[in-house]
Amino acid sequence: MTTTSTWSASPAASGVRAQSGSDIARAGQSRTRIDGPLKVCGLAEYPGDVTLPGIVHAALAVSAIARGRVTSIYRDAAVAIPGVLLILTHEDVGDAIGPVGHLMEGGWANSSWRPLASPEIRYAGQIVAMVVAETSEIAAAAAAALRVGYAGQSPVASLADPRCETERLADVSPEHHDRRKGDLDAALAKAAVRIDGRYTTPIQHHNPIELPSTTCSWDGDRLTVYEPTRYLVAAQHGLASQLGIAPDRVRIISRFIGGHFGGKLALSQQTAICALAARRLGRPVRLEVSRRDQFTVANHRTETRHRIRLAATADGHLLGVGHDAATISSRFDNFAMEGTDVSTALYAADAVAAEERLGRVDRNTPGPMRAPPEVPFLFAIESAMDELAHTLNIDPIELRRRNDTLADPVTGKPFTTRPLMRCFDAAAAAFGWSDRVAQPRATLRDGWWIGHGCAAAARPVKIGAAAIRLAQDATGAVRVETAHHEIGNGLYTLLASIVSERLNVPLDRVTVALGDTALPPAGISGGSATTTSLANALAEACDALLRKPEGAREVRLDWLPAGAKPNALDELRAGHIKLITAPEDKLAWTFGAHLVEVRVHAATGEIRVPRHVGAFAAGRVLNPMAAHSQYIGGMAWGLGSALLEKTELDPRTGVYMNRDLGEYLVPTFADIVGQTVIMVPDDDPAVNPAGMKGLGEIGIIGVAAAVANAVFNATGARIRDLPIRPETAL
Ligand code: MOS
Repeated sequence: MTTTSTWSASPAASGVRAQSGSDIARAGQSRTRIDGPLKVCGLAEYPGDVTLPGIVHAALAVSAIARGRVTSIYRDAAVAIPGVLLILTHEDVGDAIGPVGHLMEGGWANSSWRPLASPEIRYAGQIVAMVVAETSEIAAAAAAALRVGYAGQSPVASLADPRCETERLADVSPEHHDRRKGDLDAALAKAAVRIDGRYTTPIQHHNPIELPSTTCSWDGDRLTVYEPTRYLVAAQHGLASQLGIAPDRVRIISRFIGGHFGGKLALSQQTAICALAARRLGRPVRLEVSRRDQFTVANHRTETRHRIRLAATADGHLLGVGHDAATISSRFDNFAMEGTDVSTALYAADAVAAEERLGRVDRNTPGPMRAPPEVPFLFAIESAMDELAHTLNIDPIELRRRNDTLADPVTGKPFTTRPLMRCFDAAAAAFGWSDRVAQPRATLRDGWWIGHGCAAAARPVKIGAAAIRLAQDATGAVRVETAHHEIGNGLYTLLASIVSERLNVPLDRVTVALGDTALPPAGISGGSATTTSLANALAEACDALLRKPEGAREVRLDWLPAGAKPNALDELRAGHIKLITAPEDKLAWTFGAHLVEVRVHAATGEIRVPRHVGAFAAGRVLNPMAAHSQYIGGMAWGLGSALLEKTELDPRTGVYMNRDLGEYLVPTFADIVGQTVIMVPDDDPAVNPAGMKGLGEIGIIGVAAAVANAVFNATGARIRDLPIRPETAL
């Protein structure tokens, strides 16, 4: 068997193809990845791997203070190191790099802050200099040899700081409206049972194995950038605008990405600085951001704070749901992440009152991290539901059944499908939930407290515009092109499989080219919308191709989802895509249920999760093997958010303290045992023609609440602040 992979500077020559001897793919069939052999053989070209003649290497120096200004930079010691080629500070850059807006405010960037535009410091870890040298080791040594003087002020570093003032999200984000229905106070007054709980989740950082990197190479006035980014077209337009050149002079290449999970968002802060360095030196420049620096140069998940109020009848029917929440943004960007639209539409209730607030802190702008609002917001509501179930002495699954709803309780919009209880029932059967002991702290086995807990998962379906080129040559071989990219989600395989099935050609006759702005424009890979958008677009492109006479034929399709605004294609081309939730008159959601068993060591508080059943309904599943991997990955990360992940912040300095994988803990294989994934059928023709809903994020949602609820069942300790650590679990 042979594997074909041909990369070259010409996009027309590059692409990924299955091993020869493959048959025709069928939807619903498990398939290994067509790019798997390239990856395991080290042939998959990640952006940081590309070799270019004459390449030189950059390293960053970052700010030790969170707020103030740079007063001096002593560079003699750095300049004296042989091999140092260039040092860029605010004294060297200034307005050579233009402004760029934040992605969520009509711009293209992860953060609108321009680190080297002035001596001003707005967060700890802000880039204060980039050093370029013949090797990365020399660059790092020289960056460390810079002596930076500061004049600083005391920062307000987190939501926990009493000086952190919050404002209503509705005043910041024109798209946000606090949801209200009925009279929550009246519902609370007449309720037989009330829950009033406060919950918090910590700052978290994306830590993909592949670090952020940027490699810039000029050819005359044309710039090629190799950078792992989940939004190539935004990076292209944002960079062109920062450098004052036409977007068609900038090409971004990102054929494989070693994970992002919401990081590597759009245009990065380091990209224009690298491009400037490459132009000044007349040589290609590569920066690989260190693990330590990526905590501040890239984005992160905001900490959150919640107050949940539930009013219920004695038989467990919700009369009212209140969810007040706060998140943070930087002082210079409005990163607005609303979560109560899901938490207050999950269950039936006569009265609903939500209020979301946004605090301002002296940190870099946060960003989306896998299921950005649902992970923290469902931790809060699903913990409170467990508290209600315990107070009422009703089984927590039964409590959810009694409050299941076919429509949004506030707007009355019906769900396209509502398979939440089918997820619970499937998971309960596999788990053996009927054997659960409802009484907390009742089961001690071999020195471990045993507990069982559950929580729901839910997330709206998103979809966006797409553009595809599909060409078949006279031999029948097919080529698919789009500037979307492979983040480990199996996109190469998915697109090839759709073409193989629709055009009835063996899988190894299909070449997929991704990750290059020279290809038809693509939107962001986010919101679990990639597969949904591209599968629908590609199906239409295949049908259009089949309508052409046989022989060499080609289709160039610009695709709009139903409900998109007519200018959505212009937005796609300009790097301003808006993912939409459609259809507009209904709620199209994915659902899931997590059932977990925890063991808490009676003497040490050590927490283990020996069993975890996740059942998910997310529309039609094209490749069960790939879907299974997505779900397992989400469930594993969910355990991390429940038990391990937390970025520690020094409140006095605004410095993140645990900026490495030795101290920022994530689950390892040894932590992940006993996972079962169940895919619950969810036939939803109303959602989109392909019936797909996207499942990249649903797997992580609800896990933290399920674990916290299981810990309560094990030990009687109700943990309302993540992560759950041994010292609090007993
Ligand atoms: Mo998700 S982190 O909204 O792509």
